[in-house]
Parts: sequence; C-alpha cells; structure tokens
Amino acid sequence: MVNLSSHLFLLSLSLHCCFIACLAANTKNITTDQSALLAFKSLITSDPYDVLANNWSTSSSVCNWIGVTCDERHGRVHSLILRNMSLRGTVSPNLGNMSFLVILDLKNNSFGGQFPKELCSLRRLKVLHISYNEFEGGIPPALGNLSQLQYLYLGTNNFNGFIPQSMGNLHGLIELDTIRNKLSGHIPRTISNMSSIEVLHLSSNYFSGTRTF
Ligand SMILES: *[C@@H]1O[C@H](CO)[C@@H](O)[C@H](O)[C@H]1NC(C)=O
Ligand SMILES: *[C@@H]1O[C@H](CO)[C@@H](O)[C@H](O)[C@H]1NC(C)=O
Ligand SMILES: *[C@@H]1O[C@H](CO)[C@@H](O)[C@H](O)[C@H]1NC(C)=O
Ligand SMILES: *[C@@H]1O[C@H](CO)[C@@H](O)[C@H](O)[C@H]1NC(C)=O
Ligand SMILES: *[C@@H]1O[C@H](CO)[C@@H](O)[C@H](O)[C@H]1NC(C)=O
Ligand SMILES: *[C@@H]1O[C@H](CO)[C@@H](O)[C@H](O)[C@H]1NC(C)=O
Ligand SMILES: *[C@@H]1O[C@H](CO)[C@@H](O)[C@H](O)[C@H]1NC(C)=O
Repeated sequence: MVNLSSHLFLLSLSLHCCFIACLAANTKNITTDQSALLAFKSLITSDPYDVLANNWSTSSSVCNWIGVTCDERHGRVHSLILRNMSLRGTVSPNLGNMSFLVILDLKNNSFGGQFPKELCSLRRLKVLHISYNEFEGGIPPALGNLSQLQYLYLGTNNFNGFIPQSMGNLHGLIELDTIRNKLSGHIPRTISNMSSIEVLHLSSNYFSGTRTF
C-alpha cells in the first residue's frame, strides 16, 4: 500500500513538472517575435532599397521596425506589412511563432520557395496576402487550419498541385484569390462550405473537370 501511494505521488509529481515545463516551453513573448523577425530577415537575400538592412536593428524595439506594428493589449506583433519592396528570399518558418499575428502582407516582392507550413499555426491570422511573388510548390493543406482567416490572396505566383480539400474549413473566408498560378485538378467540392465567401478569383490556372457548387 505504502509503495503504491508513493508511486502515485511520484507519478503525479512528474506529471505536474511536465505540465509546468511544457507551459514554459510554450510561453512566447515579444522576444519570440524579435527572433522570428530576425530569422525572417536573415533569409532575405536581396533588399535593394536597404529597407530592413538599416531599419530592423536590435537597438530599437521590433514595434518600431518598418512594416511591423504591435498591439497595445498584448505588446506582441500584430501585423507585418512589407509591400512593393523588391525583397527576395524565402520566408522563414519561424514566423509561425508570432502567435499574435493578424495580418501578414508581403504583396509584390520576390519571395520564392515553398510557403512554410509552420505559418499555418498562426491561429489569429485574418489576412494573408502573398500575391505577386514567386512562391512555388503546393498550397499547404494545413492552411485549412487558419480558422480566423478572412482574406487569402495567393495570386500571381507559381503554386502548383491541387487546391486542398481542407480549404473548405475556412468558414470565415471572405475573399480567395488564386489567380495566375499553375494549380490543376478539380476544384474541391468543399469550397461550397466556405459559408462567408464573397469573392472567388480562381482564373488563369490549369483546373479541369466540371463543378457545380
Ligand atoms: C521572454 O521569455 C523568455 C523566457 O521564455 C525570457 O527569458 C525573456 O526575458 C522574456 N522577454 C520579455 C521581454 O519578457
Ligand atoms: C525605422 O523606421 C521607422 C519608420 O520609418 C522609424 O520611425 C524608425 O526610427 C526607424 N528606426 C531606425 C533604427 O532607423
Ligand atoms: C505598390 O505599388 C502599386 C503599383 O505601383 C501601387 O499602386 C501601390 O499603392 C503600392 N503600395 C504601397 C503600399 O506602396
Ligand atoms: C510592385 O512594386 C514595384 C516597385 O517595387 C512597382 O514598380 C510595381 O508597379 C508593383 N507592382 C504591383 C503589381 O503592385
Ligand atoms: C520558432 O520556430 C522555429 C521553426 O519553426 C523553431 O525552430 C524555433 O525553436 C521556434 N521557437 C522559438 C522560441 O523561436
Ligand atoms: C490542423 O490542426 C489540427 C488540430 O489542431 C492538427 O491535429 C493537424 O495536424 C493540423 N493539420 C495540419 C495539416 O497541420
Ligand atoms: C461541409 O461542412 C459540414 C459541416 O459543417 C460537413 O458535414 C460536410 O461534410 C462538409 N462538406 C464538405 C463537402 O466538406
């Protein structure tokens, strides 16, 4: 009996410690946002107007960096907007750690490579605008996990493959733009589950089949 209860005590103690350790590991703050943005900057291979090179300096708060705004309530990065800056490179998966990000807008640059699936854990994201870039590969199925997403612009890139079925889970999506890519296959029936959709731009791809929604 004594043995059993001491075992139970040890077990509950170790579960408790794991709980606390796991919480600590998940604690993110503005320092997390800073390292995510520095990781993002480190993968930019061309910045012809020296926008980030000079401005994104650790001597000032990330909330003062060009393109970055923070929310007052949480003191975390709320939006990252870098349009028309001729930035070239790949997007760091570390941006997926910016857990309070609501707007990510990289429209009209030369970001390429795959869109990192890690960004699909940004559960507060409402706007994802990456049109006019050079992204390639498939649209990650995990995008369907962005349950707050309202505006999704993927147009004028080199995305290929199918539109994932999981996109139908985006019940709050208002606008979807995949215009001018290399998407193929059938447009999934699940699209009809996007109950808030108002604008759907899918033209200039290689879709096949017939669909009635
Ligand atoms: C952020 O959290 C880390 C530990 O997770 C801590 O070392 C650091 O001081 C915190 N930074 C701020 C600005 O609170
Ligand atoms: C970065 O740019 C912002 C906005 O233009 C400006 O307020 C800030 O002072 C700049 N920071 C540095 C370190 O140059
Ligand atoms: C980006 O460039 C387009 C075309 O030149 C222009 O219409 C738009 O206002 C620019 N946006 C920003 C944020 O500079
Ligand atoms: C993209 O940005 C460049 C300037 O960097 C501008 O000349 C061009 O018009 C913009 N294109 C679009 C589609 O916004
Ligand atoms: C952030 O994300 C990257 C890659 O997704 C990961 O390796 C890193 O450990 C994460 N955590 C922090 C606190 O930066
Ligand atoms: C989507 O979220 C669910 C639950 O949070 C998770 O189990 C699943 O792995 C995610 N899907 C992808 C493709 O990441
Ligand atoms: C649409 O969503 C409903 C529940 O909201 C689900 O039962 C149904 O299977 C979904 N249909 C498709 C085609 O995904």
